[in-house]
Amino acid sequence: MKGPHVLIVGCGYVGRRLARQLQGDYQVTATTRSAERAAALKRDGIDATVLDLDRLRTSSQIPERLDQAAICYLAPPPGSGESDLRLDRFFQIATVPPQTFVYISTTGVYGDTKGALVDESAPVQPMTDRARRRVSAEEMVRVWCTERHVRRVVLRVPGIYGPGRLPLERLRKAEPTLRDQDAGVTNRIHVDDLVAACVAAIRNPEARGVYNVTDGTSHTSTQFLDRVAALAQLPLAPRVSMDEAQLTFSPERLSFLNESRRISNERMLVNLGVRLRYAQLDEGIRQALDEEGRRTTDNRPWSQ
Ligand SMILES: NC(=O)c1ccc[n+]([C@@H]2O[C@H](COP(=O)([O-])OP(=O)(O)OC[C@H]3O[C@@H](n4cnc5c(N)ncnc54)[C@H](OP(=O)(O)O)[C@@H]3O)[C@@H](O)[C@H]2O)c1
Repeated sequence: MKGPHVLIVGCGYVGRRLARQLQGDYQVTATTRSAERAAALKRDGIDATVLDLDRLRTSSQIPERLDQAAICYLAPPPGSGESDLRLDRFFQIATVPPQTFVYISTTGVYGDTKGALVDESAPVQPMTDRARRRVSAEEMVRVWCTERHVRRVVLRVPGIYGPGRLPLERLRKAEPTLRDQDAGVTNRIHVDDLVAACVAAIRNPEARGVYNVTDGTSHTSTQFLDRVAALAQLPLAPRVSMDEAQLTFSPERLSFLNESRRISNERMLVNLGVRLRYAQLDEGIRQALDEEGRRTTDNRPWSQ
């Protein structure tokens, strides 16, 4: 008899690896927006159901018995507005509260700290609508969970990388990047370490509140790109200054580059008990390249 139910809302890149990790010990149900992807997840042995929170019509799309369950909510907010209407709709249909709600947020909620180290006690100061939607979502989660006595865990996550999520195409196309002296600092997280944090949040009944989930090593986006290039044996990306970037990069890309912060992961290590496998970028990039290489050799397509 397997353990309690875990519902993964938004079973994409992270969700699929999380589902595989949980499958032995939990009854896992995953949601995706299309029947095709649900079928692909089922072929992987993952019980999947179709749920599109932009086109919600009935409440029959999520499992009814969630009272003993954990929900891990991985669907992103919509691309516009200042609040997360998808999450709002999900809460409308989740009429039976689960025991635990794990929400994946972003470290973008801290805004620009000019490179200073921030921990979970730092005030949020979102600088973009994207980050404002996350702050609004975190608040919705807090209120919903508090009113229903649901254990709440919010994981604030920086850029996720891993197999299938390395900037190899950008490097092959020689797309320009910001010169290092103009680039702000950031952290990253390897997808398997993020999955470990999600599992810890579900398993550990003492886990509650907000945790930063990062590798703890800060670097610029240019340094990350350079390490990927070096380890993948590709040429370094051409450099541009911030002034040139302002003229040629997309507003979304610039919004990431305009922020600089170092994120403390101490609470994740000490209180959530996560043991990072890829605290060092090089180790994480090597793993990602190895797994990508194996998939290419096996001729298996990337379906996230
Ligand atoms: N990428 C990063 O660097 C980064 C950094 C910080 C936080 N995050 C956040 O971490 C979470 C997981 O990331 P990921 O890489 O696994 O994302 P992903 O691969 O894009 O997966 C997102 C999942 O959400 C589902 N989804 C999207 N729109 C939906 C809607 N309208 N209704 C219901 N489900 C919907 C997708 O459905 P389909 O399966 O049908 O596509 C997919 O299953 C996301 O919230 C992401 O924003 C990402």
